[in-house]
Amino acid sequence: MNTSSKQNKSFYEATHRFNLWIGAVRSGKTFASIRKLLQLLEFGPPGDAMIIGVNRDTIQRNILTTLYNMLGFPCPSPSVRKTRLFGRDVYFVGAPDVSAVSTIQGSTLAIAYVDEATNIPEPFWKMLETRLSVPGAQLLATANPGAPAHWLKKQYIDRADIHDLIYWNFHLDDNPILDKAYKDAITSSFTGVWHKRFILGEWCQASGAIYDNWDNDNVYVNPFPAPSYYLVGIDYGTTNATAAVLAAISPNQWPQVRIEAEYYYDSQKVGRSKTDAELVRDIKDFIGYKNVSSIYVDPAAASFKIALRAEDLPVIDANNEVILGIKTVNKFISGKNIVVQKGCKILIEQLQSYAWCPKHAERGEDAPIKKEDHLCDSLRYCLTPFMRSGEFSHPDENLSAEQLRRKIYGYDAISQFNEQIQGY
Ligand SMILES: Nc1ncnc2c1ncn2[C@@H]1O[C@H](COP(=O)(O)OP(=O)(O)OP(=O)(O)O)[C@@H](O)[C@H]1O
Ligand SMILES: [Mg+2]
Repeated sequence: MNTSSKQNKSFYEATHRFNLWIGAVRSGKTFASIRKLLQLLEFGPPGDAMIIGVNRDTIQRNILTTLYNMLGFPCPSPSVRKTRLFGRDVYFVGAPDVSAVSTIQGSTLAIAYVDEATNIPEPFWKMLETRLSVPGAQLLATANPGAPAHWLKKQYIDRADIHDLIYWNFHLDDNPILDKAYKDAITSSFTGVWHKRFILGEWCQASGAIYDNWDNDNVYVNPFPAPSYYLVGIDYGTTNATAAVLAAISPNQWPQVRIEAEYYYDSQKVGRSKTDAELVRDIKDFIGYKNVSSIYVDPAAASFKIALRAEDLPVIDANNEVILGIKTVNKFISGKNIVVQKGCKILIEQLQSYAWCPKHAERGEDAPIKKEDHLCDSLRYCLTPFMRSGEFSHPDENLSAEQLRRKIYGYDAISQFNEQIQGY
């Protein structure tokens, strides 16, 4: 097997209680750590093993496919929660939030493997630590770096000596199978704080402007051809502003998303709150006769959603995972795959002043400053869900803007075009 020297080094040095493979995406961390996991499953201390990920799906995608590929037999189905390997019980546990702690209370483990450790809640990790009570028990984990004040960095990596902990920093060059073209593409597909963490492998604070790649190329003036359909995102407030964006979606054109109009009603500025009925009327006027396929609404806006539904509007609860939403919007902005009509002045202003919160950063968390960000939320609401449809690049899919163009137009079309323009 052709493995890099960093992968070999980590394999031989991983004899500690905590063993952490940290660094860039696609840098070969999982590959190296799973080799170690297989060795431990076969020869490690007797007792149960547990494989932990953010949820059961990510365990399947990130770990089990590689693990069973190395073993040479078929992967268990995604619904399986327990299996036997080398004569020991192996449990698969998703730890999406703190409530998962109760699922491992009471178990006794010899081996634990944690995928994406920076996304696991700290109480879960602490509980896991107490479960590793078999003599010689070992924990293996992989992670992309997060904020410098993240609990994994501050309490474990920075105090490696008291924890019997070892870690290795992985970079793209530590994966022997990546060629230069792929490394270049992946490098250009992350910007800002994500570039530092996911490409350079640094623990760095999310600070300053969130959409720091926003520029004039994200603004348009002249009308475009009609889109395939429209989406609307609405952030609702009674004391705060109610804000909406009208997004024209064209999966087969570039840019795929353009924001044609904004709606903003700030009750504090006007000095009067509007009733739900008044706001629904405003939204209906805002949409007009456009072909709106879905209206994504702030999930907390219960009464307003009922009022919209009563008018037969296609209302859907928005996904309120803030970081996923920000990553999604950022991907569109930096790839220049979203353009905003010049007249959407408040949206443009809010996108430019949207900033990371220093107070959260001190606690090792990523969060935006909560102020005047209602149109940023509306945009996030309408962009997050349809990412999964496959016509668009998922924020975790490592495609550069150029690769994304190819995905949309097809490789041949671009090559033909390039051939045609050569010589002109
Ligand atoms: N030595 C190797 N031989 C063959 N394939 C490898 C080797 N190292 C890594 N790979 C392959 O390269 C790809 C990326 O590696 P891997 O999944 O280990 O990266 P990672 O650092 O865990 O990335 P992420 O942070 O995205 O999870 C995988 O398809 C993996 O199977
Ligand atoms: Mg991995």
